[in-house]
Order: sequence, then C-alpha cells, then structure tokens
Amino acid sequence: KKVVLAYSGGLDTSVILKWLQDEYKCEVVTFTADIGQGEELEPAREKAKKFGVKEIFIDDLREEFVRDFVFPMFRANTIYEGEYLLGTSIARPLIAKRLIEIAKMTGADAISHGATGKGNDQVRFELGAYALNPEIKIIAPWREWDLLSREKLLAYAEKNGIPVEMKHKAGGSPYSMDANLLHISYEGRHLEDPAAEPEEDMWRWTVSPEKAPDAPEYIELEYENGDPVALNGKRLSPATMLAELNRLGGKHGIGRLDLVENRYVGMKSRGCYETPGGTIMLRAHRAIESITLDREVAHLKDDLMPRYASLIYNGYWWAPERVALQTLIDHTQSTVNGWVRVKLYKGNVIVVGRDSKTDSLFDPTIATFEDDKGAYNQADAGGFIKLNALRMRIAAKRKHR
Ligand code: ARG
Ligand code: SIN
Repeated sequence: KKVVLAYSGGLDTSVILKWLQDEYKCEVVTFTADIGQGEELEPAREKAKKFGVKEIFIDDLREEFVRDFVFPMFRANTIYEGEYLLGTSIARPLIAKRLIEIAKMTGADAISHGATGKGNDQVRFELGAYALNPEIKIIAPWREWDLLSREKLLAYAEKNGIPVEMKHKAGGSPYSMDANLLHISYEGRHLEDPAAEPEEDMWRWTVSPEKAPDAPEYIELEYENGDPVALNGKRLSPATMLAELNRLGGKHGIGRLDLVENRYVGMKSRGCYETPGGTIMLRAHRAIESITLDREVAHLKDDLMPRYASLIYNGYWWAPERVALQTLIDHTQSTVNGWVRVKLYKGNVIVVGRDSKTDSLFDPTIATFEDDKGAYNQADAGGFIKLNALRMRIAAKRKHR
C-alpha cells in the first residue's frame, strides 16, 4: 500500500508524513510543487529523505499553472463574491492532477493532503482527484487524527524528531498562509475578528498605497486570444508575465483585499489577499474586451461569470460543466487581440488607452459627436424607441383607466 502526499516541507505536512507511516504502515511518496510560492524546495527533499522516503517528486509547475489554469480563468474576468480573484482555488486542481499522475507512475493507490476538515481546499483536492481517478483512495489526516490543537501537533512533532522551528513555515508569520504566482493569502489568528483591521506588517507582496511612489507608472500589455503575451513591447512567457506584473503591482500598492467570504462547507471566513498582477490583468482584460467583443457576447460572459467563479471556488474545475463553460469562454476570445495601456498609481489600475488593429468593433465614424456624413441615421432611433416603449405605454394606459 502506497500513498502520495502533497508535501510542503512545513510542520503540518511533516507530521502527516510520519503519521501516515505509523498509522497506515504504508510507503509514502512525497510530491512538492513549485507554483511560484517563493520558497526553497530542496529542504523538502532533505526532510523527506530523513523520513526514509524513497520516491520524492519536486516539480516546477509554474508555466503550466499560469498557462493552463490562471490565464483560462482570467479570460472570463472571474471573481468570487464580487472581489476574490481565486488565487488559492485555481491552484488546487493542478495539485490534484499531479497527485493522480504521480500515483499512477508509482503504483500508489491513495493520495493524502494537509487541508483541514473545515475548509474549501479539502473539497477541491478531493473532487479533482475523484474526477481524474474514480478508484483513488483519499487520506485526510486532519479529519481522522486527534492532533486537533497546536499543542498536540507540536508534542507529536517533538516526540518524533520533527524540527519545531518549522512551526511557521512562512518565516515566523502567525497566519495560515498560502502563496503561488497568482496570490498570497492570510487567514487565522487575529484576522478571526472580522472587525479588526489587519496589521500593516502582515502584507508581504505590496507596499501600502500610502507608501507607494508619488509618480504614476505607465505600462502597455499586448493581448492575443484573450491572454497577455507582451509587456511594454517585450514578449514574456505566462509565468514570467505574471511574476513581472506582481512586481509592478506590488511596487504601486495594487491588489490588497480584506474579505469575509462564504466557504463551500457553509461557514463564513475572513481572509486577506494580495493579488497585484491579477488585479492588473483583470482591468486590462476587460479593457481589451471592451473594443473587441460583441455586446451580447460580453454580457453573456458577464451573466455566466459568477457561476463559473463558484465552480472554481467550490472545486469543480474538472467537472463537465466547467469544461463546457470554458469551451464557450475560449471561443469568445479569438477576437480578443490588441493592446491596453494602464497607469499604476497608489493602489489603482487606471486604464488610459486600448486599441486593436485586427479586431476592433469601435467605429469612430458612427460614434462621433461631429457630422457622421450619413454613417448613422438618427431618425431610425425614433421608431426603435417607440417600439421598445410599446408595452410600457399599454401598461401606463391600463393604470390610468
Ligand atoms: N479562503 C481562500 C480560498 O478558499 C484561501 C484558502 C487558503 N488556504 C490555505 N490552505 N491557507 O480559496
Ligand atoms: C484549510 O482548511 O486547510 C485551509 C482553508 C480552506 O481550505 O478554506
């Protein structure tokens, strides 16, 4: 019996590693992914070796993450509950996919993860895993063991020689954090009081808007089929593009969010997020769509978006309805080509220009306030308005009868 563990190298998943070996007496395969969380991964290899793990996978998934998950999601201008850019939610289906691939390669019959029984992440990992391998067994230690307090976990670590300086894997931060190329999130500790403002030194990726430079910075993004492909005239790979936008956004205090959201399991939870590059991409993508998409197509996308966002938030990336929606979304993006210029200034992303040589639907000869030389017949509008008013006029007559 063999299990593939999603292993960060931190305290919690190290305890899980040992616990799986002791409780399940099974061979553990570890999987550690680089999705741009900005941590050294080699220490995870050393730790796994110390526990006697023979099959250790450390994969750089940064390009795949942005190309096949983040960019497709941004084609839909996706936000959950009006605000959350889904930074954690969109990474889970990739981890699930890789866990299943590694299980197949190593002949493992189970996977395991360190998500708690209270959250969204367990649902995302497991729905993904079942969708990709209907026979897979899942071990979720947080739902099984009795190490439910911090003290018990630390005592178990101490007893089993797991170094406890790993207590806060993110360098002494008291928060429950999750980071990847799209965002960094903070939950727990004093954020559990939704009335309390987060401390300034919690934020790691962005300066505060107050401390951001006094001079604005202009950037130009080029889009092809709805994806940003070049920044200031330079072509960049998906992961490089997002990393560069994070740097620029961070410098100008862009993309902070403090949110109380509804978890799929039913509770409300307070989280803080930094999504600098994603915040720029959302604005810029809407700007290029504004001149390249038909009105009804754009509005249809907007109607479907909250549904698509909930699918991703709730863990249904690999479900047939998400794939069907994606097909529609991707189809609409074939005309989304051109460039957008935005100004970054003290927490704001201000669109200042957009154009498309090949796909613009903006017709200045029709839209002009000057003489349009017959391009548009204003007299047509009279009938258009009258017929649209017909049912309201009939209703008004009834009211006055
Ligand atoms: N609340 C966010 C979400 O559900 C972030 C979750 C963060 N996960 C974590 N393991 N710290 O997507
Ligand atoms: C967790 O419970 O493991 C993190 C939070 C979440 O999944 O929503």
